Amino acid sequence: MKDILAQETPVWRHLEATARRILESYGYDEIRLPLLEATSLFERSIGDVTDIVEKEMYSFIDRNGDSLTLRPEGTAGCVRAGLEHGLLHNQVQRWWYAGAMFRHEKPQQGRYRQFHQIGAEAFGLAGPDIDAEMILLTARLWRELGIDAVRLELNSLGTPASRAAYRERLHAYFSAHRAALDADCQRRLERNPLRILDSKNPALAELIAAAPTMESTLDTDSRAHFQALQAMLAAAGVEFVLNPRLVRGLDYYTRTVFEWTTTALGAQGTVCAGGRYDGLVAQFGGRPTPAVGFAMGIERLISLLGQVGPGQGCDVYLIAVGDPAVLAALALAERLRTALPDLRLTTHCGGGGIKAQFKRADRSGAAIALVLGDDELGAGTVTAKFLRREAAQETLAQQHLEVQLPSLLARARG
Ligand code: HAM
Repeated sequence: MKDILAQETPVWRHLEATARRILESYGYDEIRLPLLEATSLFERSIGDVTDIVEKEMYSFIDRNGDSLTLRPEGTAGCVRAGLEHGLLHNQVQRWWYAGAMFRHEKPQQGRYRQFHQIGAEAFGLAGPDIDAEMILLTARLWRELGIDAVRLELNSLGTPASRAAYRERLHAYFSAHRAALDADCQRRLERNPLRILDSKNPALAELIAAAPTMESTLDTDSRAHFQALQAMLAAAGVEFVLNPRLVRGLDYYTRTVFEWTTTALGAQGTVCAGGRYDGLVAQFGGRPTPAVGFAMGIERLISLLGQVGPGQGCDVYLIAVGDPAVLAALALAERLRTALPDLRLTTHCGGGGIKAQFKRADRSGAAIALVLGDDELGAGTVTAKFLRREAAQETLAQQHLEVQLPSLLARARG
């Protein structure tokens, strides 16, 4: 679990603000859901034989004896909330969310136990157009963030029926090579052979590469959906690579699955991933409701942006020398904050002489120091000193300070 320090938050905020603006420009509304859900919600949606459910969930028994889990992802909670509030039946919903997710994974670069996602989910739309919309939206985000080292991988997992047929084919194929499988994959063979395709064991790479692909069992409707999606992406100028081994680490997917990946981050190269999950709402007792979504890993995108700068600091640092000036400075600062809501004004705290206060002003990143001492107090003025460029200090009337400060700041910044 990582601390996000002050020098990093400007990049986080830039990313979050850009994502929010784009999501809202496509008509997505923000929802905020609990960090804790019933453990069974994740077991039933993500799937028993997945890494997340088998070994990564932070689960505990609460004081009522209920098993709760810190959310490892956001989709299951969206489905739960949509059903609970009657928002899914016969309705179209486009939602987005941002927040912390928790997985007890082996920590390494780009993989944390508390990490952050921004995700989107759309309910009630069955066609490939909404799949394309989601992909276009993410492509736009990369463009606006200036991220170009990503590529889009696509696959279709078909309907539950065609997937079951594929399971059978995979089961037959891997059963014939059972002895070559590691213990993990032998277990997956019986319970969920698709998950073998996700194995990172290099000794199995060749065997997996030669396994039959989903393509061979894909049903006609899923094939048409997938081809229509590809045509839409091509028409919109979004490049993609078909990856028949892309099965995703969660079990709820049907038809379209996609991942945006990069080679710039080492092993943890997926920055955004998602797909369709047309069966999940019905699985939780709702009417059959088509759904599609994605989530991106904020930490990974931040590493791609790679520009951790100094903290933003403040614009103006207010120095006050002597007790009467400290009192007057407090009132003056409050007045300026009311008049200029965007101004970042730091008042000196902790006392000390003028030299020490100037030192702090310098470190604060401010462009201007305003000084209030006995003389200024008597005359009803403040002394303004530019901190980032050479210029004579100026004396300003306290009374008109809010009017003069914006242009003074512009000059102080050159
Ligand atoms: P996911 O592939 O498990 O999908 O996670 C989405 C993204 O979250 C990953 O591509 C990665 O960027 C980031 N991520 C996952 N685990 C970690 C970690 N331990 N540390 C840092 N980043 C991580 C989902 O969560 C689905 N709910 C996506 C979705 C939404 N599908 C449909 N709707």
